[in-house]
Amino acid sequence: VTRKPIIAGNWKMNLNHYEANLLIQKLAASLTGEQLEAVETVVLPPFTDLRTVQTAIEGDKLAIAYGAQDISKHASGAYTGEIAGSMLAKLGCTYVAIGHSERREYHDETDELVNAKIKAAFTAGLTPIFCVGEGLSIREASGHVAHCTAQVDAGLDGLKEDQIKQIVIAYEPVWAIGTGKTATPEDAQEVCGAIRARLAEKYGSDVAEAVRIQYGGSVKAANIASIMAKPDVDGALVGGAALDAEEFASIVRFKE
Ligand code: G3H
Repeated sequence: VTRKPIIAGNWKMNLNHYEANLLIQKLAASLTGEQLEAVETVVLPPFTDLRTVQTAIEGDKLAIAYGAQDISKHASGAYTGEIAGSMLAKLGCTYVAIGHSERREYHDETDELVNAKIKAAFTAGLTPIFCVGEGLSIREASGHVAHCTAQVDAGLDGLKEDQIKQIVIAYEPVWAIGTGKTATPEDAQEVCGAIRARLAEKYGSDVAEAVRIQYGGSVKAANIASIMAKPDVDGALVGGAALDAEEFASIVRFKE
């Protein structure tokens, strides 16, 4: 099976819409059509930047996909402050990050809510980038594999086989996020491999081989190639380094 590599940049709560436009323009100037063809490239800006990003990408016919960092579990209605999947789809989003550790930690997102949001994404025609990962204490107690596979089980509960095949799973050890402390390629492979094995066990090898699994946590141009060399790592979810066009472009060009 050949899974197309997928590099996604999560801008988190950074960049206003002017800055967002600038970053897209710089990114477009740093990557050729061929490079964008070889590696699926995704940006996840704040909600308020999405229209600007859409205009820049569609205007220049750039092969860069984009999506939001969160989604409401509801389809529409009296949910002040929430953003529905259909609104994201209408803006040309194709992806949405769900269950990022910062959402789980600072906004009390549970596995149950994450599962509901994944279903809402599919209802709207969006592909979830479904995030899992363990904190430091779980890692130190060697509970990381069990923790992450349990999060995967809970997040995918009740989904159809063709939906699971389409999903992107991001393994992000919380202790490696924004700390400069990258997991080793072996650490990344251990959990990404265990997630794929769990998918095979539950849904069959056909499904497991189709799912793309990313690593996230202090990814940069200097470490991407060794991480991508691992058999069960199909991409990266990049935070800080995605805010620098040159650095992010180098990550996308990891094969060169
Ligand atoms: O979503 C991205 C991750 O949380 C990684 O962030 O690359 O700044 O460590 P980072």
